[in-house]
Parts: sequence; structure tokens; C-alpha cells
Amino acid sequence: MPAFTHHIFVCGNQRSPDHRRGCCDPLADQSLRAAFKAEIAKHRLGPDVRANHAGCLEQCEYGPAVIIYPHGIHYGNVTIDDVPRIIAETVIKGRILEDLLIPDDFVNNATADHVRQWAETHDRPADPRHDS
Ligand code: FES
Repeated sequence: MPAFTHHIFVCGNQRSPDHRRGCCDPLADQSLRAAFKAEIAKHRLGPDVRANHAGCLEQCEYGPAVIIYPHGIHYGNVTIDDVPRIIAETVIKGRILEDLLIPDDFVNNATADHVRQWAETHDRPADPRHDS
């Protein structure tokens, strides 16, 4: 089987509504992943393009988070309404959607401003991975 051209990991991690880092699947129904699967099927992109459920992708402050490999594209605050655009523009045309892109400086960066500011105000470790 050839490698996927686009392997889309959709965070479906669930946490309590009051968790400090938020929850990428507050309805606990994987509806975002289902929307990706439906859009992939609509465009007949399978089996080269696949959307999988993922646990926490460590981009919680930008959740719901989606990562597209092998390109390493990190999208944040993704809604179901964004899915047709992601498939049409990023997957099919290879265009990055700047409005969804998580800044490189914030990806896997415990010293990013938003993480540091939260840690300072909550007297917690700056590395959020200590509390995921
Ligand atoms: S809970 Fe979704 S990225 Fe962490």
C-alpha cells in the first residue's frame, strides 16, 4: 500500500469542561473527524488521504487541533465549517490556510507566550505536558 499523501490527525481528546487547557471534542462525538471522513469520501480521496482520531496533540490552547502529515501542517481552532475548505484548499490544491495555521513559534513550545502567561497566572509549570 502506498503511503498516504495526507494523513490528517484530528484531536478528539476529551476533558472536563473546566479543564484549564480546554477540550478538543466537547460533545464527545468525534464530529470533527466524521466531517473530515465525509469530505474525503465526497472527493474520492481515499485511500491516499485518511483522517484519524488522535489523542491530545499538545496544541490544546488552539483546539480543536488538526495536524496534516507528512507536511506537518498544524491547524487550530478548526470547526466543522472549516473542513470543506481544508480539503479543497490544503489537501487538493496544496494551499496553506493562514487563518487556521498555528504559528510555528507556538507549536510544541512550552515557552510560547500563551503557555508562559497561563503558567505565571496559575502558578503551574510552563510546560503544559506536565498536566495533560
Ligand atoms: S486536547 Fe486537543 S490538542 Fe490537546
